[in-house]
Amino acid sequence: MSPVPFTVAIDGPAAAGKGTISRAIAAHFGFAHLDTGLLYRAVGACVMDGADPIEAAQSLQPDALEDGRLRTAEVAQAASRVAVIPEVRAALLDFQRDFARRPGGAVLDGRDICTVIYPQAEAQLFVTASAEVRAERRWKELSAKGGGRTLEQVLEDVRVRDARDSERDTAPMKPAAGARVIDTSDMTIDEAVTAAVSHVEACRSARQL
Ligand code: DC
Repeated sequence: MSPVPFTVAIDGPAAAGKGTISRAIAAHFGFAHLDTGLLYRAVGACVMDGADPIEAAQSLQPDALEDGRLRTAEVAQAASRVAVIPEVRAALLDFQRDFARRPGGAVLDGRDICTVIYPQAEAQLFVTASAEVRAERRWKELSAKGGGRTLEQVLEDVRVRDARDSERDTAPMKPAAGARVIDTSDMTIDEAVTAAVSHVEACRSARQL
């Protein structure tokens, strides 16, 4: 393991393929991976249980990330709602920045990693896809788990979350100037992973020059 930090920052909307790509990059290069959406989901779940969002973010413990409910559509919307609160975002900042600089390399995926959390990241990606394609992917995932939402409802969820995440005042989701944009709408998983890995390879080679 290289002791030199190397950070891969990946942003983009829900169900664009960020998670799959992040895990594949982490496995390929032997980097640690942080799905930063889980932090907001954990805070959202606490708020659903009656907690104050800022207190929940300030006292978040690692075991909260193991909560089995975090992947549900309800928690996703709760996460998006708490994520507009500047004090919630501030409480989660140091943990994410420390993770980004850990020895041996790190991959972080979310909405504001390239723009706010770690703009110095050596490799930056914005992974996206059309709302219709993302809704269909998410709907298939939910249906496989026995979820009762229709495709139309999932498309509406995707649109609501996109609008809230990209129109908020603090750390809105947007592609960073230095990020390579990968639109996965017409790509297979393998094609998307190959495009992402080759961008990271190119950034690593550029740094070694
Ligand atoms: O990536 P995800 O779907 O698990 O994220 C859930 C919500 O958390 C997302 O709608 C907005 C918020 N989020 C954020 O604001 N910033 C991040 N870096 C990651 C997630």
